[in-house]
Amino acid sequence: PVLPADHPLADGRTTGSALLRALRGERTGPRAVWFMRQAGRSLPEYRAAREGVGMLESCLRPDLAAEITLQPVRRHHVDAAIFFSDIVVPLRLAGVDVDIVPGRGPVLGSPVRTASDVAALPSLEDVDFTAIREAVALTVSELGGTPLIGFAGAPFTLAAYLVEGGPSRDHLGPRTLMHADPETWQALTTWAADLSGAFLRAQLEAGASACQLFDSWAGSLSAADYEAHAAPASARAFAHVADLPVPRIHFGTGTGELLPAMHAAGATAVGVDYRLPLDEASRRLGGVVPLQGNIDPALLAAPWNVLEPHVRDVLRRGDAAPGHVVNLGHGVPPSTEPDVLTRVVDLVHEVPQ
Ligand code: CP3
Repeated sequence: PVLPADHPLADGRTTGSALLRALRGERTGPRAVWFMRQAGRSLPEYRAAREGVGMLESCLRPDLAAEITLQPVRRHHVDAAIFFSDIVVPLRLAGVDVDIVPGRGPVLGSPVRTASDVAALPSLEDVDFTAIREAVALTVSELGGTPLIGFAGAPFTLAAYLVEGGPSRDHLGPRTLMHADPETWQALTTWAADLSGAFLRAQLEAGASACQLFDSWAGSLSAADYEAHAAPASARAFAHVADLPVPRIHFGTGTGELLPAMHAAGATAVGVDYRLPLDEASRRLGGVVPLQGNIDPALLAAPWNVLEPHVRDVLRRGDAAPGHVVNLGHGVPPSTEPDVLTRVVDLVHEVPQ
C-alpha cells in the first residue's frame, strides 16, 4: 500500500468528507469551505500563541504548528485544515539562509542569481522533515474526520524569492534569468521542484489527505513563458506525489490565461483567484475540472448586505464546475473580523448545491 494503514485516507476517516467529495467532482451534501491563510493574524488566539516566537521557529515546533493549524477549524468549523507552515520552511530545512520578516515576507541572506550560486545550493539528499512529520501526525490525531491539506510553494514562486532575495512586485529578476540563462533557470527550478515535492510528500505520508501547490506569482508570466519556464518544474513537483491516491490542487493569482496549463501540470483541481468568475474558469477548463475559490478577500470588510450576495454569486457560478471547494480568491487579510469568516462558513453550509 502506498499510504500507511493508519493514514486518514487508508482507514477511511476523511474519504467521505465534504472536501474529498468535492475534489472527486461529487455534488452531494453541503459544499466544502476553507480559507487560504485561515490560520494567522486575523485570530486573537493565533497572536497569543505566536507571542515572542518567530514565524519560522513556530513552524518548526510541532506542538505549536499543530495548535495553530487547529485553531481556525475549532473556531469557524471549516471543512479542512491547512497545515501551518510556509513555502520557505523547506528552504530553511535544506540549510538555505532565509528568514520571514514581519510585515515584509521571506528574505534571503544572499540571492541566487548565477550558475555558480545555483551549483552551490545545498544537496537535497538528506533534508530532515522530522519536525514536519511530527506536526502533521499530531494535527491529524486531533482532526478526526476533517481532512488536513498539505502544501508547498511552486518552483516559480520559490525561485522568484531566491533570485530577488526577497519580496518583489514585478519579479523582473526571475523573468530576466529564465530568458537570459535558461540552463541556470532550469537547474534552479528543478532544485526547487525536488525540494517542494519532498515537502509535499512528507506531509502526505504523515497524514495529510490533499495537497495544494501555491504558485502565487505565476500570474506575472505570459502564457508562453509559463508553459516554457514554469509549468515543467511544477509538473516535476507534483510527480513526487502522483503515486499517492490524494487530490492535488494548483493555485495562483492572476492566472486566468494559465488555467489549462496549470491543470495539465498534474493537478486534479485548480484554484482560481477573485479576478475570474468560476463559470468562466470552468469553461476554460472544458467543464471537467473541480475548482476552488473565489470570494474576493476585499469584500470580507464590506457590510453583510454586500458580502452575502457576493458569496451566493460565487456559489452559483461554482455550480458550473463538476465539484466546488469554496475558498477566497487569495489569503485572509490580517485585519479581517473573525466572526465574518464564521458567518460565511455558515452561509455556505446552508445553501444546498
Ligand atoms: O493558513 C494558511 O494558509 C497556512 C499557512 C500559510 C502561511 N504561508 C503562513 C504564514 C501558507 C499556506 C503560506 C503560503 C505562502 N507563504 C505563500 C503562498 C500563498 C500566498 O499567500 O500567496 C507565500 C507567497 C508565502 C510567503 C510569505 N510568508 C509571505 C508573503 C508572508 C507575509 C509577510 C507578512 O508579514 O505580511 C509570509 C509570512 C506568513 N506565512 C505569515 C503566515 C501566517 C505571517 C507571519 C506572521 O504571523 O507574522
